[in-house]
Amino acid sequence: MAADVVVLGLGYVGLPLAQEAVRAGLSVIGFDVNEGVIEGLNAGRSHVDDLADADIASMVASGFRATSDETEIAQARAAVVCVPTPLSEDGGPDLGAVMSATRTIARNLQPGMLVVLESTTYPGTTDEVVRPILEEGGLSAGTDFALAFSPERIDPGNPTYGMKNTPKVVGGLTPGCTERAVQFYGHFVDTVVPAKGTREAETAKLLENTYRHINIALVNEMARFCHELDIDLWNVIEMAKTKPFGFQAFYPGPGVGGHCIPIDPNYLSYNVRARLGYPFRFVELAQEINATMPAYVARRAQDILNEDALALRGATVLLLGVTYKPDIADQRESPAVPLAKQLRQMGADVQFHDPNVETWKVGDDELQRVADLDAALADADLAILVQNHKSYDTEKLVAGAARFFDTKGVTTDAEAHRL
Ligand SMILES: NC(=O)c1ccc[n+]([C@@H]2O[C@H](COP(=O)([O-])OP(=O)(O)OC[C@H]3O[C@@H](n4cnc5c(N)ncnc54)[C@H](O)[C@@H]3O)[C@@H](O)[C@H]2O)c1
Repeated sequence: MAADVVVLGLGYVGLPLAQEAVRAGLSVIGFDVNEGVIEGLNAGRSHVDDLADADIASMVASGFRATSDETEIAQARAAVVCVPTPLSEDGGPDLGAVMSATRTIARNLQPGMLVVLESTTYPGTTDEVVRPILEEGGLSAGTDFALAFSPERIDPGNPTYGMKNTPKVVGGLTPGCTERAVQFYGHFVDTVVPAKGTREAETAKLLENTYRHINIALVNEMARFCHELDIDLWNVIEMAKTKPFGFQAFYPGPGVGGHCIPIDPNYLSYNVRARLGYPFRFVELAQEINATMPAYVARRAQDILNEDALALRGATVLLLGVTYKPDIADQRESPAVPLAKQLRQMGADVQFHDPNVETWKVGDDELQRVADLDAALADADLAILVQNHKSYDTEKLVAGAARFFDTKGVTTDAEAHRL
């Protein structure tokens, strides 16, 4: 039976998309190269934060199926690519998964199909990398099949904005491709916004994430000198935030994490440098500032212990929250890892607690979450709040710790040191 859509890559991005399409009554197939993922999904098990097992079970009950049989793609009216785009060794984008997924579609491409790339990438990818692969079989994009780029805007753990109510930007190779993609997403997304073309849609995503990256770097740099000047930056931000126009609040922290913010702006700076030969200075500066935050936090930890005539070497430091965002289990690119490495390098005994993580990998070591949070707090020379999960009662944590360093600005207790 023909499917309305096949989603390639069933992770944090592909699964919510598949779920929303199923909810809208479309017939959806999920294609992935990971057999474990396929087995789990078909058995009703979720492996991403935003979907519960019950959500997967209900998708399966509505006809959703996961498969590794690529020939099923030939039966679909649309194919959406949601595979990872990590950074390669040289700092450029690794398009290996995108090219491999595109080849999979190319081998099964049928006239009239719509192909959409959602993976975050540098401008030009859809036209210069994806299109030629798809056209290898003799069909032409824009005439025989439709091709578009639509940036994914999923915000894992966000209780307000999900797939359906977050406006979706789509840019086609031709106006006809855009129209086709707008129509497709219109089935399950409230607002679809047509871009001028694929490059504009690709660059819009990078602008969004670069904007965030740069503004976080701005407050991270301010955090350092405000501390030296004895100015409470958290209060400064609260004050600035009262301006109803022209200001958006960003907050400092122990570094940036996740699959997007620390990585995506590099696609743009890499591309600008490779094509035009000059740097995208804002991105490079932001990268430098944000990347040094874990080391800065480690130094501040040393200073806090020093005030009490203690050394970081030999001290027990308890890290609270090691995921890259609150209330999720995703640890990708979490700044807690470089922080732990730095603290260990300086001689500290690092322990951790996170309600969502039982074992945590730091370098080659697997650390076990402390068994008893209260006891570990009482025993540690210093506790550092790295991620503020909802289940943390921070005032209670401060009260139970010998010394408390709050990198998220959530404590009001005068006893706590704030970033
Ligand atoms: N996670 C987020 O919050 C987020 C937000 C916005 C954009 N994005 C972007 O979306 C894309 C996907 O990210 P994700 O977080 O969903 O990744 P993920 O790692 O959660 O999932 C990707 C899935 O793709 C599968 N895969 C890999 N190669 C494949 C191939 N050749 N064919 C089919 N499946 C393949 C993997 O097995 C995995 O299940 C990335 O480009 C990312 O930058 C992610």
